[in-house]
Amino acid sequence: MIGMCEGRVCVVTGAGRGIGREHALALGSRGAQVVVNDVGAGVDGIGDDSTPADEVVEAIIAGGGQAIANHDDIATWDGAESLIRSAVETFGRLDVVVNNAGILRDRKIVSMTENDWDSVIAVHLKGTFCVTRHAAVYWKGEVDEGRVNDARVINTTSSSGLFGNPGQANYGAAKAGIASFTVIAAMELARYGVTVNAISPGALTRMTDGLQLDDEMKRRWDPALVSPAVCWLASVSSGDVTGQVIESSGIALGVFEGWHRGPRGEAVSTAEEVDAVLRPLLAEARPPQSIR
Ligand SMILES: NC(=O)c1ccc[n+]([C@@H]2O[C@H](COP(=O)([O-])OP(=O)(O)OC[C@H]3O[C@@H](n4cnc5c(N)ncnc54)[C@H](O)[C@@H]3O)[C@@H](O)[C@H]2O)c1
Repeated sequence: MIGMCEGRVCVVTGAGRGIGREHALALGSRGAQVVVNDVGAGVDGIGDDSTPADEVVEAIIAGGGQAIANHDDIATWDGAESLIRSAVETFGRLDVVVNNAGILRDRKIVSMTENDWDSVIAVHLKGTFCVTRHAAVYWKGEVDEGRVNDARVINTTSSSGLFGNPGQANYGAAKAGIASFTVIAAMELARYGVTVNAISPGALTRMTDGLQLDDEMKRRWDPALVSPAVCWLASVSSGDVTGQVIESSGIALGVFEGWHRGPRGEAVSTAEEVDAVLRPLLAEARPPQSIR
């Protein structure tokens, strides 16, 4: 049987563990040629270990698939460039980028250090940009040479960024930024035959192992249940879908709706007039949705 991702060359960042590992295994078992990227960092982003990425590659190959390991740091410009280059040099082309790598440095704002902020923004927001940017240059080059792409960027946002979650100002800001980046990149890259979407996952991994879940919830929070939507987005079937944020977990498959203009009034010319105009509009506006 031909897999739904047959012949697609897919880069998955942070694919040594957790959700990214499941993406890589699912893509590999559906015929994709997978570049399994992971620095092997701790959940806080500290340290490196080549073992997780290497083991995922072994598992894909043992299942009859094709994969290579890559240990570049995607939070750096050069690391992201080297990752994209290794995909093209090994498999001769690039079809899909899954930006999944992530770290956590949860702290309330009053205790958060500059390094906590910078590290989280670097891996999530800058890393998503860097990998996408180098891939986009490759796809633009293909179009310049007269070839047609049917390519994908699949980013990873979070309900923490979409709804807000105290203690995660750095992480939530990065994830909200990734949702906005997704919308803008979808607009810019359409001309090169590239769709750009994001998933918002939920899964039991080392990132979420502090959550108290009953057995049924643990079953539904299996990270493998996040990957079906990623395989579909990576496949040629999803070519008409771009700029979307898709909720994907063992709890639900859904679509997140972005910002909409709410109630509006006449513009004012002085600060003294704002209260009378804005307060009724604030009362009329839908309250923000909560994370739960
Ligand atoms: N687990 C959840 O419920 C959940 C919810 C919302 C969003 N997410 C997002 O899903 C993604 C995967 O999270 P997870 O729960 O599987 O976490 P995880 O810690 O199990 O896996 C993340 C992987 O990313 C790798 N990584 C970290 N920094 C890297 C870098 N600079 N370069 C390359 N690899 C790097 C790590 O080594 C690790 O293997 C993250 O973006 C996370 O923010 C997870």
